[in-house]
Amino acid sequence: MTASDERQRDLIAALDFHVAAGVDLMLDEHPHDRFSEADAPARPMVSTLEPKHSPPLEHSARREPAATALSRESPPRGEAPPQAGTYGQSAAARPGEAAGDARARAKDVTSLGELEALLGGFDGCPLKFTAKNLVFADGNPAAKLMFIGEAPGADEDRVGKPFMGRSGKLLDRMMAAIGLDRTSAYVTNIVPWRPPGNRNPTPQEVAICRPFIERQIELAAPDLIVCLGSPSTQAITGTKDGILKARGRFFPYRVGDREIRVLATLHPAYLLRQPLQKRLAWRDFRTLRAALDGKA
Ligand code: URA
Repeated sequence: MTASDERQRDLIAALDFHVAAGVDLMLDEHPHDRFSEADAPARPMVSTLEPKHSPPLEHSARREPAATALSRESPPRGEAPPQAGTYGQSAAARPGEAAGDARARAKDVTSLGELEALLGGFDGCPLKFTAKNLVFADGNPAAKLMFIGEAPGADEDRVGKPFMGRSGKLLDRMMAAIGLDRTSAYVTNIVPWRPPGNRNPTPQEVAICRPFIERQIELAAPDLIVCLGSPSTQAITGTKDGILKARGRFFPYRVGDREIRVLATLHPAYLLRQPLQKRLAWRDFRTLRAALDGKA
């Protein structure tokens, strides 16, 4: 191996390390407003370095290989950059303004189709500009049961539907174990765009998107909601409890003039990392089955 090969190998190893640690943007010593730079021609952040030894695609830890994560720096192909002026400097700088705008617009839509179209044209959440696709929902919107996860990952971003990757497959198996599938449930997330590098959505991003998920619940009008994981449970129920305390419990939730119930359980991605905890999720799914049968 030549010195130049060794240097390239070391650079790739360093890049893989940073991506695995959740780094999705290269930073300078001085802050940059990336959104106001979006009009400039796209400039690749990591020129021609193609990792030869990328880690395998692991969906469980909201991670992905280097090239994919870093290539999201510029707006997706064919997508207009955010319009300067819509939210002042940028949505990231004014989350309160964007959340207020989201609430005002969401209340006017009268169908799930209109809500999806509204989200497609909404520029107030910065995640939209790093995601490939809007991930609105999957399953049966007329179902009495609604599952709400956290945010799309790489597979969902590519397909444009929630729970398509490894955690989606596990969710499907958990549903099947109690006689459900995606024709008997409606599936969505609290945030409809993938956070770059599979990081968790920030509280500001969740706050901006909250009016949309609340309206989505009103329009789908389920009888029962299952929140998958802590961010979803906390956003929907308002509890501050961690998921290991909240799981298995029902929380009240008001939809118009009806009070429905929200059951909290563990996120399938967590179960992929902690398979022993599946026994807790199994208890929750038996509780869910009993609730659907009118016995809990
Ligand atoms: N994790 C989520 O929370 N939602 C998805 O859609 C996929 C993975």
